[in-house]
Amino acid sequence: MNINEIIKTRRATPPRFLAKKEISKDRILQLLESANWAPNHKQTEPWRFKVYTGDAKQKLADEIYFFLNKKNESGESVNLQKVEQFRNSLIRVPVAIAIILERDIANRIPEWEEIAAVSMAVQNMWLTATEINLGAFWSTPQFLPILNGILNLGPRQKLLGFLFVGEIAMDYPSQGRGNINEKVEWK
Ligand SMILES: Cc1cc2nc3c(=O)[nH]c(=O)nc-3n(C[C@H](O)[C@H](O)[C@H](O)COP(=O)(O)O)c2cc1C
Repeated sequence: MNINEIIKTRRATPPRFLAKKEISKDRILQLLESANWAPNHKQTEPWRFKVYTGDAKQKLADEIYFFLNKKNESGESVNLQKVEQFRNSLIRVPVAIAIILERDIANRIPEWEEIAAVSMAVQNMWLTATEINLGAFWSTPQFLPILNGILNLGPRQKLLGFLFVGEIAMDYPSQGRGNINEKVEWK
């Protein structure tokens, strides 16, 4: 596929549409290598990733589940249905990559630019996944901001979600896009 075909073929493939089959480390590395070539301002390279597979992924799913249930018991409002759904997704998919933003030490760049750079890194991974016949899904549950402890994030790090990756068991229909002409003003 050429780049235009890859861009239009890429889909958000929900976890239940991904196969449980393990993915080789080699293929995961291809995604991460692509991520590392994303553009970024002042060479901060603000993307960090934690790759969860096998037992580590199961442990993460359990820790998140019990932590959030405890929060709920102690009176904090947590949507337990969403927590359960997230746990099931994490257990189901073969690979979950935590997407982390790391601010540079001097805060030279506004946060939004760093988020943009990390997002471009994610898109790079997603496009490479498409090229090598893997499906991916960016999951951003509401409770991300309270998971820092469980993921052992540093004070300059922020969790921007998880990229679930696996072989595509079943195609997920594209939602398509509205017409670009409605989003552009030519001057
Ligand atoms: C930053 C970001 C966060 C997202 N978070 C979620 C999410 O938490 N849950 C979800 O169902 N889809 C999420 N998505 C995926 C979109 O829902 C998906 O791209 C959209 O359904 C269109 O599908 P398509 O890209 O296959 O056309 C996210 C996408 C982005 C860019």
